Amino acid sequence: MSDPIQYVQHREQDHLAELQEFLRIPSVSTQPEHKEDMLEAARWLAQKMDEAGLEHCRVIETSGHPLVYGDWLHAESGAPTVLVYGHYDVQPAEPFELWETPPFDPVVRGAYLYARGASDDKGQVFIHVKAVQAYLKTHGQLPVNVKFIVEGEEESGGSSLGAFIPQNMALLSADVALVSDTAMVNPNQPAIVYGLRGMVYMLLDLTGPAHDLHSGSYGGGINNPLNVLGHIIARLKDESGFILIPGFYDKVRPLSEKEREILSRFPLDEDVWLKETGAPMAWGEPQYTLVERLGARPTLDVHGIIGGYTGPGSKTVLPSKAHAKISMRLVPDQDPQEIARLFEQFVGEIAPPSVDVSVTMDAGALASITDYEIPAMKAASSAYAQVFGREPVFMREGGSLPVISQFQQHLGVETVLMGFGLPDDRIHSPNERFYLPNYYRGIQTSIHFLAEYARAT
Ligand code: BES
Ligand code: MN
Ligand code: MN
Repeated sequence: MSDPIQYVQHREQDHLAELQEFLRIPSVSTQPEHKEDMLEAARWLAQKMDEAGLEHCRVIETSGHPLVYGDWLHAESGAPTVLVYGHYDVQPAEPFELWETPPFDPVVRGAYLYARGASDDKGQVFIHVKAVQAYLKTHGQLPVNVKFIVEGEEESGGSSLGAFIPQNMALLSADVALVSDTAMVNPNQPAIVYGLRGMVYMLLDLTGPAHDLHSGSYGGGINNPLNVLGHIIARLKDESGFILIPGFYDKVRPLSEKEREILSRFPLDEDVWLKETGAPMAWGEPQYTLVERLGARPTLDVHGIIGGYTGPGSKTVLPSKAHAKISMRLVPDQDPQEIARLFEQFVGEIAPPSVDVSVTMDAGALASITDYEIPAMKAASSAYAQVFGREPVFMREGGSLPVISQFQQHLGVETVLMGFGLPDDRIHSPNERFYLPNYYRGIQTSIHFLAEYARAT
């Protein structure tokens, strides 16, 4: 076992330099001007996977951004197959002016590597490429079969992988999926996420007059779409976070006493947590604990409002249009399509006839829950324990990973979410970073996982 571990211990500087190269490619999936960068990032990764000793490495074109595939399928007969998933696309880096160093110029400060995508998810997915490489370069073989599928539309709610999975079931068939795209509790306490929230993202577009109007001449006679938007948003949930859309909670699976008990043991230090956010106080449904509210209860949030005059000084205008971007995080067994329908119906009921309202569903993902007693979970626990000196805690996470429920539904494959990020990595935010000691420990943990999983099955 010591060979691959020694191999990676001697190559930490190379592993850092390679990750920096990956992070220099601005693969922002949601912005059309980065389309070529997406292809470049996919090609770069396929090349690295090939160098690592994976076979059949290729960039697969889709109607959206390409997928990257590679495998190594020569393990002893009877050995299981691990499907590694990750994403090479990143969130937009805006607002640029809030970055201390440029988002696509990865810089090490202290123990952290700063760049967009450092933690979410380039640094984390690359961990597994390096682990496979260490094994193949030292032992010439792996203890299990592995397949990699890495996508470029995770952050933009795209559906290319969702369409690819049911059409390529044999290519992707596996005994378990392994994903590093979540966070640990703190630098020394690993965590395995066994539940993720789903989500549905809605676009709301309101039109009043055909063009902007003088608010003195027309105010009082023509309704203002921005005011109407405010009214609509105000009626979607109450002050404590309870969502007022009729039927919204009908399919919510109640939290069992056993699960509430498990979640109550989660070591969240609320003071530290609050301090990291910079908010004046915590908030939410009073009958649920903070941990429950963050991972096991649905939410509704406005992400952006566009409309009217926002330049310096004042301009007296009745705007023609108003727009909002709103998402709802979902829990088992809420269905994104059905929730989108309920949302649209309710908005249709409360919107006045004095404006035109259009409601569009953008992205959707199902929530997922995984049995934490399967052999791969035990292998992951033991791998973490060998490297971090501590067993992981099991937790539910509030974020979403659409692919997890697709693996469950189409491939019948459960996923181990073996994360190496930290809660204050500032993913999706300026100054995203990755804690480098856990990048290196992550590679070692992945090596141990492959060995432990072979033993566990
Ligand atoms: N890696 C995140 C999911 C995540 C967030 C895990 C926070 C752990 C902590 C993933 O890249 C992500 O951001 N997903 C999107 C999905 C959406 C665009 C459908 C999300 O949760 O907003
Ligand atoms: Mn991610
Ligand atoms: Mn993300």
